[in-house]
Amino acid sequence: TWTTGNVIEEQVAAIREQVGTKRAICGLSGGVDSAVAAALVQKAIGSQLTCVYVDHGLMRKGETEQVEKDFVAATGVQLKVVDAQERFLSALAGVSEPEAKRKIIGREFIRVFEQAQAEIVAEAGAGGEDVAFLVQGTLYPDVVESGGGTGTANIKSHHNVGGLPEDLEFELVEPLRQLFKDEVRMVGQELGLPDEIVQRQPFPGPGLGIRIVGEVTKERLDLLREADAIAREELTAAGLDREIWQCPVVLLADVRSVGVQGDGRTYGHPIVLRPVSSEDAMTADWTRMPYEVLARISTRITNEVADVNRVVLDVTSKPPGTIEWE
Ligand code: XMP
Repeated sequence: TWTTGNVIEEQVAAIREQVGTKRAICGLSGGVDSAVAAALVQKAIGSQLTCVYVDHGLMRKGETEQVEKDFVAATGVQLKVVDAQERFLSALAGVSEPEAKRKIIGREFIRVFEQAQAEIVAEAGAGGEDVAFLVQGTLYPDVVESGGGTGTANIKSHHNVGGLPEDLEFELVEPLRQLFKDEVRMVGQELGLPDEIVQRQPFPGPGLGIRIVGEVTKERLDLLREADAIAREELTAAGLDREIWQCPVVLLADVRSVGVQGDGRTYGHPIVLRPVSSEDAMTADWTRMPYEVLARISTRITNEVADVNRVVLDVTSKPPGTIEWE
């Protein structure tokens, strides 16, 4: 019979057998899959695993801390954090076109990750060739989608931690290959991972970089982080986290509209709320959510986030709209 206990036991044995006395690297994205994969491998081989977290500065409020503090506390994993915020910001300077942004973020991510890998190998000194394995949070649906191939890292047009280059000389460790998302969450819970990580809704690899329509700047990221944190807080408080698949919060950075606040005219940016209901993100419908919750989010964002004077609701299904705006 299928139990999380059995799955963990089986995978721990399989990982030990595969890795032996060698060493492994795992990229953490802040998402469920890489976190649970890393926690399983940590349980199996302990200090033979090093995790890498690239802080690209495009995460939402509190997410980097969740990885750096809570995940490490829950698993005892060795973590190398690379602060690459400046690097991503300068690479993105002046770029507005969505695909261009995605490509830059994906490219920089791979470069920074490869550099971190090289450092880990160098730090291992004479035993450097022992660093032979790369852990990935590939799930069963990913396996099916990519034709069931094994042994090489598959690259999707989407950027995520799984989308690493194929010329890496690492053998893959993929302990979640037989699992569906809900099973991965159960395994993560059983392994003692924090709820904020295990129950996290989908979040794109390029992060807030593709939720700013227009150029990505530090100021705009900070503004969007505040608006997003308010929306998430209110959705959670209203008990809507399960009902809503995800709710991108988007900043229309190149749009301004006239408003009035206090006794003055404002000329600020709109924030778009994009709550969607979905089974698998292939199709989605906009979530009919309570007006009172929308009202609270709107009031708080316009009151608390400087330079935002309007909140609008996206009422488009997918198709024709995609879930993300870019
Ligand atoms: P779209 O916008 O295509 O999004 O309807 C479908 C789902 O995929 C997520 N998404 C991504 N996830 N890397 C990811 O790991 C990406 O580059 C990426 N782009 C979109 C999106 O949040 C939604 O859940």
